[in-house]
Amino acid sequence: MTVYFIGAGPGDPELITVKGQRLIRQCPVIIYAGSLVPAAVLEGHRAETVINSAELHLEQIIAAMRTAHQQGQDVARVHSGDPSLYGAIGEQIRHLQALGIDYQIIPGVTATAASAALLGCELTLPQVAQTVILTRYGDSSPMPPGEQLADLARHGSTLAIHLGVKHLSRIVDELLPHYGADCPVAVVHRATWPDQDWVRGSLGDIAERVAAKDFRRTALILVGHVLGNTPFADSALYRAGHAHLYRPGD
Ligand SMILES: C[S@@+](CC[C@H](N)C(=O)[O-])C[C@H]1O[C@@H](n2cnc3c(N)ncnc32)[C@H](O)[C@@H]1O
Repeated sequence: MTVYFIGAGPGDPELITVKGQRLIRQCPVIIYAGSLVPAAVLEGHRAETVINSAELHLEQIIAAMRTAHQQGQDVARVHSGDPSLYGAIGEQIRHLQALGIDYQIIPGVTATAASAALLGCELTLPQVAQTVILTRYGDSSPMPPGEQLADLARHGSTLAIHLGVKHLSRIVDELLPHYGADCPVAVVHRATWPDQDWVRGSLGDIAERVAAKDFRRTALILVGHVLGNTPFADSALYRAGHAHLYRPGD
């Protein structure tokens, strides 16, 4: 018996892996994060037990996994996006390890990748930014030392800020000294859901633009010069004359 932590992707039910979908269809027990995982992701399941974990606390979730374990039933534990990012799977894994229950993680398409796809852009442009920092706004869970937005902003890299749209004005204030008012920003609301929407702007005007849209939850804030028209060089990878293992003749 195994608990499979499955990344459901950002919303569009076609953005789950083939493996994740197969496991959802096979497992007799499904526990899914109902607040962010659309019901359509569960389509085709034949599970006897389907539990929405949004209504449960940790001990109740573990109790459900333990019951499945006693009955020899595999569990599909479905999380939004990729389970390794803000999925609260670490605490579940700690319990499973203590109970001697096997688990596996099936990765998923994270909100950052889905948002970049929607905006039609690359987050790592040569000579503009080669680093993406995935972070969150520390509200209910404070940030560890050294991970305040100002600490991260010093790098000038592309930022993907989760769980922060309610605090956009404070985020802007913290980033302005490092990125400047003209730095491009995009706020993507419910990427890949039928009601997806997004706003592009700059640090100087994004708070006002987002207020007009009334995005409150499930939005990702992307910050960085890769989102604008900053000139950038071609990559070495496809440059004529750059020889490598697969193009040795150039
Ligand atoms: C608890 S975290 C889960 C992240 C998820 N594990 C992932 O890999 O995308 C939830 C936050 O991720 C971001 N998020 C998740 N899905 C999103 C989507 N479809 N569009 C935009 N942001 C999303 C939002 O910032 C949201 O508040």
